[in-house]
Amino acid sequence: MLAALGAATGSAQQTHSRPWLNPELSAAVRAALALAQMTTDEKLSLLRSASANLAGPKRPTGLVQGIERLGIGPIRETNAGLGIAIPLEEDAPTSEDEAVALPAALATAASWDPELAYAAGAMIGEEARRKGFNVLLAGAANLARDPRNGRNFEYSGEDPLLSGTMVGAALRGIADRHVVSTMKHFALNDQETNRTLVDARIDRDALRESDLLAFEIANERGHPGAVMCAYNLVEGVHACENRWLLDRVLRRDWGFRGWVMSDWGAVHSTVPAALAGLDQESGVEWDSQVFYGAPLKVAFEQGALPTGRLDAMALHVLTALFAAGAVDHPPQPAPLDIDADSAVAERAAREGIVLLRNEGNLLPLTRSARRIAVIGGHADTGVMSGGGSSQVIPIGGPALRVPIPAQAAWMVFDPSPPLRAIAGKAPEAQVEYADGSNVTAAAESAQRADVAVVFATKWEAEGHDSDDLSLPHGQDALISAVAAANPRTIVVLETGNPVLMPWRDQVGAIIEAWYPGSRGGEAIADILFGDAEPGGRLPMTFPASPAQLPRPEILGRDNPWKHVFLVDYREGSAVGYRWFDARKLTPLYPFGFGLSYTHFRYADLRVEGGNGLGATFSVTNDGGRPGFAVPQLYVRAVAADGSMLQRLVAWRKLRLNPGETRTVTLTAEPRLVAYFDSERDGWRIDPGRYPVAVATAADSPVLQTTVWLNARTLPP
Ligand code: BGC
Repeated sequence: MLAALGAATGSAQQTHSRPWLNPELSAAVRAALALAQMTTDEKLSLLRSASANLAGPKRPTGLVQGIERLGIGPIRETNAGLGIAIPLEEDAPTSEDEAVALPAALATAASWDPELAYAAGAMIGEEARRKGFNVLLAGAANLARDPRNGRNFEYSGEDPLLSGTMVGAALRGIADRHVVSTMKHFALNDQETNRTLVDARIDRDALRESDLLAFEIANERGHPGAVMCAYNLVEGVHACENRWLLDRVLRRDWGFRGWVMSDWGAVHSTVPAALAGLDQESGVEWDSQVFYGAPLKVAFEQGALPTGRLDAMALHVLTALFAAGAVDHPPQPAPLDIDADSAVAERAAREGIVLLRNEGNLLPLTRSARRIAVIGGHADTGVMSGGGSSQVIPIGGPALRVPIPAQAAWMVFDPSPPLRAIAGKAPEAQVEYADGSNVTAAAESAQRADVAVVFATKWEAEGHDSDDLSLPHGQDALISAVAAANPRTIVVLETGNPVLMPWRDQVGAIIEAWYPGSRGGEAIADILFGDAEPGGRLPMTFPASPAQLPRPEILGRDNPWKHVFLVDYREGSAVGYRWFDARKLTPLYPFGFGLSYTHFRYADLRVEGGNGLGATFSVTNDGGRPGFAVPQLYVRAVAADGSMLQRLVAWRKLRLNPGETRTVTLTAEPRLVAYFDSERDGWRIDPGRYPVAVATAADSPVLQTTVWLNARTLPP
């Protein structure tokens, strides 16, 4: 214990003989001092993590032994962004594996509240520490380019500003708990199906304006200690040996000082990868061979890996560990604060729920309903979660675990049954459950009830994109039948992506609850009964059909294994709503959309242009209940390819009481008004008059004007 305290505080005696343990010095200086003490083997040992054969509870996803003689403890890495996720092999999870499950990152993004994303990051950072980890593989900043991507639920939507801001806040929350955070999957890992074979093609300027801008903003705001390079290729080169991405963009342009780790199984070479910017091979057993370790040592001894590069690689790891405080404050195993952590998860779930439809103010439900039919979605048992490496085993264990043999995976339901939460809100009512497997029985139950609540689910998982945008297992027919039996039908969606809703006009209300996590049932019931105001807004466009997408089909699905195939991101930076706007397509629901139980009036727009762009306006809650307004500022500006593209440049989330007016000033992020010009190596704003709109969704301006902007250039 004394030794641990000594290491943590860097006692005077210790810091005299081991000055790199002196917390008064900068991380860079401490890293250099420690490096100067290290042997070649010690440096090399920092550059690979193991993951196989790590048995027992609390096992890490990646482990680096550390250099105990220098007071630098082991690096223990764990997944991921939605809570502490322990790698599960064949065995059943034990209570040691359990953690509080946040809702999908897409849900947190739907809150449009960076403070909430920070709280979520801090919560999982603290759980990581208490479980003995000092690196969290959390901070997924990929843009949701395709609404069928199996990992969109781990991402923060389709817009670079929203995604970068929310991921950046989460990264900061993690680091503030002295845990190294990891921005991933760098970059363009925007398709899961055959992800290791995708060769992503896109114009570089368009990439800067889209996916890379999300990473750039997240990096600036969150200062991640690590960046994980992706499985796919970018312009014919694997992301983990792509010098342009790793060296030029990440290090030179963005000044990243932490370490680049590979995704698990994403390394394909030794010297090319090391020279391109890959610092650490992760989970070496996952690659086709061990590329770092012994082969890296040979490369070093033969002069193929210069001393300067080897030192820089080790230095990057050390700098990040010191900067996060992971050396000064080693993880302290302790029980989780389940109540406090669950409260964060519940808040994120609640604030991320999006009210999509509410005919005749069917919602919020009154407590006077005498008979409520709850149908489908295993609502009697729990709420759905997404699959893959981010899968959290919830506290108390999964409510339900359904094997998915085709994907060698399990579908896990978190034990927060909406049925119980609904019954708790309406103790006088008779609440009847039908599992939905018998459509006739479900419709009869709905007919007997004052109101029917249908839960519809769609499972998504890492490694696999959905074939289509439809709800599976006949749920569309179930919803139609229930709605035909009772027009007072409410649909609650638990999905990790947009879905089509052929029954939309038949039902009274729709809420998108995503994968709502450990307290999802409670959060859903709060919104249904109006104990919380719906504050969520869509972080993704909900298309009306796959034909509207840049790629109506997922490419490479039937490609024989091991054949690289091209995915041409021909839409460039016109991702999501920008594409819909440019092509004049009407989506099912637009980006930024979400209803409230009250309504708002917007007025008095004034804009200031010149060298910056500011917009001031007033928002009044002119309804009868408190509620959340999320005014969004959009500008239409020219992109690198010459097209005019709509962009979200700022937003604010406000809670207003009935009758309350607030004056809001939004300042545009300049890179979102600019275009990237690689010839001049930076961002450019051309002088001119730009259309500006305050809007309640990407296609719903409420105040509009134009503003003059001066010519401006910004560094890359
Ligand atoms: C995923 C990463 C994850 C890693 C370690 C990979 O399959 O893409 O997000 O952190 O595995 O489990």
